[in-house]
Amino acid sequence: MLQVLNLTKRFGSMTAVEDLSFTVESGEIVGLLGPNGAGKTTTIRCVASLLQPTSGCILLSGNDVTEDPVAAKRALAFVPEVPNPYEMLTVMEHLRFIAAAYRMEEELVHAEEILTRLDLWDKRNDLGASLSKGMRQKLACACAFIHRAQVFCFDEPLIGLDPKGMRELKSMMLERRSHGNAILISTHMLDTAERLCDRVVILNKGRLIAQGTVGALKEKLSSSNESSLEDLFLQLTEDVSDA
Ligand SMILES: Nc1ncnc2c1ncn2[C@@H]1O[C@H](COP(=O)(O)OP(=O)(O)OP(=O)(O)O)[C@@H](O)[C@H]1O
Ligand SMILES: [Mg+2]
Repeated sequence: MLQVLNLTKRFGSMTAVEDLSFTVESGEIVGLLGPNGAGKTTTIRCVASLLQPTSGCILLSGNDVTEDPVAAKRALAFVPEVPNPYEMLTVMEHLRFIAAAYRMEEELVHAEEILTRLDLWDKRNDLGASLSKGMRQKLACACAFIHRAQVFCFDEPLIGLDPKGMRELKSMMLERRSHGNAILISTHMLDTAERLCDRVVILNKGRLIAQGTVGALKEKLSSSNESSLEDLFLQLTEDVSDA
């Protein structure tokens, strides 16, 4: 569903992501983890075609984001790290705009349910400019869920959400997973990642340092089964910094 193949992204002489490869299959939630500056957002922005890879390629449902950007974008729903709603569009107009852009107006029948679950139904006629930070985050998620994407990419989606919003968003992700969608989520919330994600991909300084199920990583590092993903994460990222 999502294939990242030998992705390298440089900003001038600075290498943000180096030779990174991983996949997210249908019916899978994969956590993209790593310390600040590890390259998570850069990777996700390359997947969303907001940045052009220096080398390597990215396939979304088999479509190369560089060679066939329209087909690739059609397959993707993307929630950025800092959502910026259109100031002069209402909440409902955002959903209409996205549904029209993806030529999926029939999906608007789900608008009330999605907005209600995210506590935005009462705000449906409010302008983007008037929304609080968490509401902007929820609106970006609502826009992602309104069209029938095959691949979902969320960059730190849980930051800024209230507890009910977090729970609802996680359950919406699990529903998408059970519908066979592929979901990539970057997060620093390791306890959530451990519970929500089928696999994790761990980056440090732009490089892949580990990937697999949390259980397999624990075995590989011969940690006790009681150690948490947080223990593994700190062990892995420390080892690399010291090298
Ligand atoms: N537009 C840019 N120009 C120059 N350097 C950049 C640019 N965007 C990112 N970088 C650098 O690339 C590296 C990776 O940044 P990135 O935003 O991908 O990290 P991240 O893993 O998302 O971190 P965080 O957890 O803080 O969100 C950092 O060193 C950052 O300074
Ligand atoms: Mg980031």
